[in-house]
Amino acid sequence: MPKTLLVTGSSGLIGSEVCLYFAQELGYKVHGVDNNQRAVFFGPQGDTRWNEARLKRDIGGFVHHELDIRDRAGVLALVKEVRPTVIVHAAAQPSHDRAAAIPFDDFDTNAGGTLNMLEAARQACPESPFVHMSTNKVYGDAPNRIAMTELPTRWEYADPAYRHGIAESFTIDQSTHSLFGASKVAGDVIVQEYGRYFNLPTCALRGGCLTGPNHSGVELHGFLSYLVKCNLEGKEYKIFGYKGKQVRDNIHSLDVARFMAAFVGAPRAGEVYNLGGGKDNSTSILEAFQLAESFTGQAQVSTYVDQNRVGDHICYYSDLRKMRAHYPSWDITQTLPETIRQIVASWRQRR
Ligand SMILES: NC(=O)c1ccc[n+]([C@@H]2O[C@H](COP(=O)([O-])OP(=O)(O)OC[C@H]3O[C@@H](n4cnc5c(N)ncnc54)[C@H](O)[C@@H]3O)[C@@H](O)[C@H]2O)c1
Repeated sequence: MPKTLLVTGSSGLIGSEVCLYFAQELGYKVHGVDNNQRAVFFGPQGDTRWNEARLKRDIGGFVHHELDIRDRAGVLALVKEVRPTVIVHAAAQPSHDRAAAIPFDDFDTNAGGTLNMLEAARQACPESPFVHMSTNKVYGDAPNRIAMTELPTRWEYADPAYRHGIAESFTIDQSTHSLFGASKVAGDVIVQEYGRYFNLPTCALRGGCLTGPNHSGVELHGFLSYLVKCNLEGKEYKIFGYKGKQVRDNIHSLDVARFMAAFVGAPRAGEVYNLGGGKDNSTSILEAFQLAESFTGQAQVSTYVDQNRVGDHICYYSDLRKMRAHYPSWDITQTLPETIRQIVASWRQRR
């Protein structure tokens, strides 16, 4: 049977990396689904057509489908026609701040679109691994209840129970998620349910900050990409609360694609993984400024707003032990400085 991959959100950061990795490293025939909705969500700055063109240029036989994942009949027809051997579902409304202004678009895309994909997979190719991009926002702001220590440039967990970071057993309940976090919880849980109830080989990957040179970073989504862009353009970067010491763990999209390939090689049903860069790839905003400056030679221009973003994490990094235990051949290969170096190079080229 030919190896065929169907990727939703193929023009986005993760989708495009997955298309390239599975085509070039693993020999898959690749179908991408993307309607450039990112430009609708975020305006021209979020436009992903340049990435779609890159995939058409760099992947022989790449087939682009201009389809909205909210189109239930269209999704079903496409999945029945392609009958992919692997599905990676990475299309989403990805911003927690943006969701509040567009609650129906957000929920219909993140929850409804995910259900459309799952049900189409169940009807057309139930044996094909189904990888869903979830988010660490499913934990809401509950990680903020962990005791923290304030260090000179970052917040850190004071409770030794979290010295490896946040594990998959952490509560997703009874906290503030933002509407985005709530719609992603719905998608995450239904992906688990199709695994457990229908025994489909599904997993939900609860991403930390996913990043890399091919992100169309905007203020409301794509922290490192946007931060570097501001640095290069001498544009003001706005810090929202927590003294700029809030910590995120960052994982390069290549390491995301590599983990998906590991899962596809030995799929399980209804699993969840906290897919982040872990403590080693974590940084605060203040520390990220320093890193960006070290590669660009330009001082970061910033302002500080006292009010933090609703539901924003003070300190979050993923406990990677479950991923490493289930897939021992996988590990992080891209360090944070290397990732920032690549982001700088990419923005320079795009500008
Ligand atoms: N980037 C991050 O830091 C991060 C962190 C955690 C989780 N995630 C999750 O990973 C996934 C991918 O994120 P990303 O950073 O690549 O986002 P992205 O915005 O770069 O890519 C998503 C793509 O999906 C497309 N899309 C959106 N709605 C669509 C629709 N209705 N129909 C068809 N296409 C549609 C967009 O045009 C875009 O190209 C999302 O599920 C996101 O929630 C991302």
